[in-house]
Amino acid sequence: MTPALPEPLVAAARTLRSTPLATLFERDRDRARRLTLAWNDWRIDLSRERLTPEVLGGLADHARASGLPRWIEAMFAGEKVNVSESRAVLHPALRDPGRSPLSVDGTDARAALRGARDRSAAWAARIHDGAARGATGAPIRHVLHLGIGGSDLGPRLVVDALRRPGAPGPGVTFVANVDPAALARALAPLDAASTLVVIASKSFGTQETRENAKAVIRWLDAALPGTRPVACQVLAATARPDLARACGLPEDAILPMHDGVGGRFSLWSSVGVTIAAVLGREAHLALLDGAHAMDRHFRETPFETNLPVALALAGLWNASALEHRQRIVVPYAEALALLPAYLQQLSLESNGKRVTRDGEPVAGRTAPALWGGVGTDGQHAFFQWLHQGTDQVPVEFIVPALPAGDDRDRHALLVANALAQAQALALGRPAAAIEAELASTGLSGAALARAAAVRACPGDRPSTTILVPRIDAATLGALLALYEHRNFVEGILWGVNPFDQFGVELGKILAAPIAGALAGGRPLPADCDPSTRALVDHVAALMRR
Ligand code: F6P
Repeated sequence: MTPALPEPLVAAARTLRSTPLATLFERDRDRARRLTLAWNDWRIDLSRERLTPEVLGGLADHARASGLPRWIEAMFAGEKVNVSESRAVLHPALRDPGRSPLSVDGTDARAALRGARDRSAAWAARIHDGAARGATGAPIRHVLHLGIGGSDLGPRLVVDALRRPGAPGPGVTFVANVDPAALARALAPLDAASTLVVIASKSFGTQETRENAKAVIRWLDAALPGTRPVACQVLAATARPDLARACGLPEDAILPMHDGVGGRFSLWSSVGVTIAAVLGREAHLALLDGAHAMDRHFRETPFETNLPVALALAGLWNASALEHRQRIVVPYAEALALLPAYLQQLSLESNGKRVTRDGEPVAGRTAPALWGGVGTDGQHAFFQWLHQGTDQVPVEFIVPALPAGDDRDRHALLVANALAQAQALALGRPAAAIEAELASTGLSGAALARAAAVRACPGDRPSTTILVPRIDAATLGALLALYEHRNFVEGILWGVNPFDQFGVELGKILAAPIAGALAGGRPLPADCDPSTRALVDHVAALMRR
């Protein structure tokens, strides 16, 4: 069942829909302080969302009444909160340095996770330090990471965010797409003898990764004749060691992944071998520690001051009470350029659901579409639409207070832009103020009114500002855990299971006979729809030319 919002909150939403943000600030002079959450040097400012401290309190009560405290405890206790797949949800345990047993199916999952982590750490250290050798004895200088979805987005984001130019460690290339152009482009500059391949796939059956892996192994074999590259320069991070073994990988090169780690969370598992290999052990541990610190905050903090919970409550309010159908994430940090794509999978694959955990239709709407892009670049692309378009879309600004390097002046400009955009979205600029300004240029009458109208920004557009100290490994770990837990809370309050993704299966099933028709000339199934049949016929005809 979807827990229904209590009537007082529904009534508050009706009123607040037509209450300008400026009015909310006028009514409550202390609003900015009352709606800003603090954790260490972090600040999350919800004061520009169309809610009040009372609404947030009501939503926290709603979360308690909906059993959220029990769900949180159940997840951390290793209970099977992924109900449809009857699996525990163990990504928080992956970053927990503690040793107290965590019983899952009668065995200590913590010990198994630690064993897996040690094995991938040993490989990562050898690669990072230049001690790993390929089939010809050449030192490994490059990691080619093959994976898709969670087996790609997380490690790709972390490496892109934290890699510093000239830092020690191997080069790295990520390939996800089965489009042959992706792999061709990746392989062109690589030296086969010094490239180590990581096949990251929990299921070891995902079509894209499987086909790319086969192509890469062919490339290695062709480039290194008389050697067995698969025996020493291919690693698999997977929950299906049997399938990796069947591909000829030696036992030592198979890095296990627990069944209880969902694909969207796999960066914390042995899939993160690429992160540790490229960035080194220290950065990898800092990433895990940062995430663990957020895990503890999430587990131990009352809902009213709990960052992931408060963000989730604001998200639920925007989506379910105010019925916003989109959500935009804008990190003002080049390091986080890949974050919107990462969060897109996290949110939409988790909570893009129309049926509750009990198989009933959800009441109302679930996850809004999520997209975004890095600031300031977005200001010169989609921000016009945000400021003057016909839709109101909540924005999440993520802003590091301090630069990664030492250029404080340009960083100050970056931060200023983020804060200015949030200000402009909330308060806008009315036509009257613009008219007064333009009058001095000699414009008047209809021309003046027209000029002011096209320039006016209505404002009253909601946003959240997440201010973090700086983008380093610990902060990034905490930020990713913050969004993971927000996502979990939202899923629970929508009544869905945020840990399955059955919707992605249908397309995979349907692709098989179409691929058979296109590549193998096999007939399409008799019940294939006419649209698909006509397009397949056309592609096949072009292929035959
Ligand atoms: O897109 C579905 C999905 O199962 C994701 O959840 C997952 O991250 C991705 O495919 C890759 O799966 P695997 O790691 O099993 O190859």
